[in-house]
Amino acid sequence: MDQIKNLNPPAAIGAGVLASLFGQASPVLSLAPMQDVTDLPFWSLISKYGGADLYFTEFFRVTPHYVPERSILRSIDENPTGRPAIAQIIGNDPEAMARTARTLEKHAVCAIDLNLGCPAPVVYRKCAGGGLLRDLPRVDHLLAVLRDAVQGAFTVKTRIGFEDPSEFDALLEVFSKHRIDLLTVHGRTVAEKYGPCVHLDRIAQAVRSLPFPVQANGNVISAASAADTLWQTSAAGLMIGRGAIRNPWIFSQIRDRLAGRAVRLPVGREVLDYISDLYDAVCSEGVPEKAQVQKMKKYMNFLGEGLDESAVFLHDIRRCSTRDEFFSICSRHLYHGRAMTLQP
Ligand SMILES: Cc1cc2nc3c(=O)[nH]c(=O)nc-3n(C[C@H](O)[C@H](O)[C@H](O)COP(=O)(O)O)c2cc1C
Repeated sequence: MDQIKNLNPPAAIGAGVLASLFGQASPVLSLAPMQDVTDLPFWSLISKYGGADLYFTEFFRVTPHYVPERSILRSIDENPTGRPAIAQIIGNDPEAMARTARTLEKHAVCAIDLNLGCPAPVVYRKCAGGGLLRDLPRVDHLLAVLRDAVQGAFTVKTRIGFEDPSEFDALLEVFSKHRIDLLTVHGRTVAEKYGPCVHLDRIAQAVRSLPFPVQANGNVISAASAADTLWQTSAAGLMIGRGAIRNPWIFSQIRDRLAGRAVRLPVGREVLDYISDLYDAVCSEGVPEKAQVQKMKKYMNFLGEGLDESAVFLHDIRRCSTRDEFFSICSRHLYHGRAMTLQP
């Protein structure tokens, strides 16, 4: 009883939430962390389209005197999804990261997640994110410090190595030494960035060899590819990133497919409505129209890949600057009643 009293209540509850989520028979569907994309308005929108079971914040980039950004904290404090949230941290300073993890645990998160995958040169050259995968003793130390600091659940999101998939064998040995509550494996090396190949065999290897749940990540772009990834890896869950920007219905479609129900594809006009919802959701008061259109282009870079005549759409979208131009291009491509797979 005393032990229970001494636990920080939110952290203790958080650990239980994650364990019960992954204790269920159906695979857990998570929205991937995506910097400058998966903010509070985006979470809110995604949840209205069926939504994920679990939401990861974009990363908190921890430096020695770091104070967590209010804007990212808002997605936790005002989490509109009704589902649990995990706060992700990135960095390489163990003390600062432990301190930040403890601060974040005072907010309504069910776990703290460590990023071991970011392939951006500005991050990995500083030996953070994916850059840490070149230094396994350092990963080992960071995992030990964070596991000790985090009172509730502690999770890790990793790529399968820096240069070569064979590096994953040694990485798995490091992971297996620590009490990790969930490992998300993005089945690419850092060098492979977002290339076409996802090494599902390596994710399956993690599932087989680790005593804790493993989520599969990388190129889940449809209900069919979700079923295939689950079949090939036996993962306990799927994390979906770009596929959810293109197709916010993807979580419902996957649930339907796994339950043996027919998968419904949206028609063009529904996709147009989604773009309009997205415009309203991410539009902050006082932001000039041009900046707002600029912001939408970031989402359209992903969504456009899933449209017919993708190259023409993206060419035109990248050159527009007003709201009217933006929606007239979108309408030209989407004001129709044909079903869309929204796959690249
Ligand atoms: C715009 C963008 C931002 C991202 N930001 C993060 C991040 O903050 N933390 C992280 O762990 N991964 C980040 N990622 C990687 C995704 O979480 C995910 O691992 C990757 O996109 C592969 O999954 P997908 O094929 O479903 O998109 C980002 C990816 C994109 C496209």
